[in-house]
Amino acid sequence: MYAPRKLAAAFLGTCPWRRYHRRHMGISVREALSKVHGSTKDIKIQGWVRSVRAQKEVLFLHLNDGSSLENLQVVAEPSLKNSAISFGSSVEVRGTLVNSVGKMQKVELKAEEIRVIGECDTKDFPFKIKEHHPPEYMRQFPHLRCRTNAFGSLLRIRSEATAAIHQYFRDNGYVHIHTPIITSNDCEGAGELFQVEASNRDTAPGGDGEFFGAPAFLTVSGQLHLEVMSGGLSKVFTFGPTFRAENSQSRRHLAEFYMVEAEVSFTENLEDIMQVMENLFKSATTSLLSKCPDDMNLFFKYVSLGQEGRLDRLITKKFIVMSYTEAIEILKKVTDSFKHKTEWGCDLQTEHEKYLVKHCGDVPVFVVNYPFDLKPFYTRDNEDSPRHTAAAVDLLVPGIGELFGGSLREERLPILQSRLETRGLADTYQWYLDLRKYGSVPHGGFGMGFERFLQCILGVDNIKDVIPFPRFPYSCLL
Ligand code: 4AD
Repeated sequence: MYAPRKLAAAFLGTCPWRRYHRRHMGISVREALSKVHGSTKDIKIQGWVRSVRAQKEVLFLHLNDGSSLENLQVVAEPSLKNSAISFGSSVEVRGTLVNSVGKMQKVELKAEEIRVIGECDTKDFPFKIKEHHPPEYMRQFPHLRCRTNAFGSLLRIRSEATAAIHQYFRDNGYVHIHTPIITSNDCEGAGELFQVEASNRDTAPGGDGEFFGAPAFLTVSGQLHLEVMSGGLSKVFTFGPTFRAENSQSRRHLAEFYMVEAEVSFTENLEDIMQVMENLFKSATTSLLSKCPDDMNLFFKYVSLGQEGRLDRLITKKFIVMSYTEAIEILKKVTDSFKHKTEWGCDLQTEHEKYLVKHCGDVPVFVVNYPFDLKPFYTRDNEDSPRHTAAAVDLLVPGIGELFGGSLREERLPILQSRLETRGLADTYQWYLDLRKYGSVPHGGFGMGFERFLQCILGVDNIKDVIPFPRFPYSCLL
């Protein structure tokens, strides 16, 4: 038997790539582009060909591996040209990284060897070199659209935004909680649930597909589970997938989306919660502008002209606050401009939300104290009259409308108990009542739709273009 080291030596001894395994350092395009001084020998880069230009005396390739928007220029002897090197093919290039003499790039890879890893049939490949593909076209190819500049940038921004949001909460003393995806509660009480059943009814416990012995659903919000945890850890957050069976084809609704939720104990003011929302929004946006300027610029240049200035306003201006009652007064003055009713007591529709933001000079607006009857059972009663309101808040932003929804939660046991009894929910939510029975504290929190956040800062019109695999009625590709 060979010892592992002997086995490796035996393999390398027969391997045609032996010298490369020993000598060439594999680096990403991003790393290569950041090396600006002198030349570095024995470099290996793997990626996809974005362009091929063969001249009489030199062959130029542009390589992208998804690590940056910018491609790496490869310069090679024409003898290295091979018909399999085409737009879309995957290659491995070995050579020396040198300062470029061209004006378009600082460094380039002088190739000694080009190996095609995977060929690409450019005739059938849905994306064509140097062609602009509209988002609706790209959406048909969720398995290939990450090869385009625009979607590559979006995915890097999405990844940075996720990190920035986690960083904000870490910096401010919040504990991250993994709230469950499968749950037995309908947090929002709106009945927009996907039910979870075992696909094999014969072998599942209970024999009727009801695996858990009771109806189970995909979560519509992690709020109630976060409330549990804020009852011991004070400041908590969750950031995960959320599911709603809303029959909507709108540009701001998905059946599966990501929600950022926070819950804060020992707070009696909606203003405290609103301050966290505003800080989170501004901190995540500022971080993206500094961490991925090239990717952000692609959106400012090609997707939403003028977006850079609009973003600047969102970061620097103090957000505006108005009550629901004031909002209705504003809307009633232009009631004919809307399809939906604008009476006190009606829910605000997207058209109303967008109007309110415009009315406030395109600065985000907090609308507070909504009619009590519009809000879910957990919202704190303001106990006012004749217009009965609850301590709820929505943050409305330009181009989108509602981005955050939050509230103070009803922490008073007798009030919550009687509300749940009236709705016939007291038995189901016994555990929720327990939270008020044992060391209850005033608390509140919010949820922010992550895709709507991306739409808002990048100026993307359709929510389906800011998530890798959009799910909506009649569409669950892949
Ligand atoms: O206003 P919502 O329904 O609030 C809640 O679910 C609270 N339980 C959150 C909390 O307090 N912890 O949803 C929060 C946000 C909305 O403001 C919106 O941005 C986004 O989630 N959202 C959606 N995003 C995409 N597609 C959908 N179908 C969405 N529904 C809500």
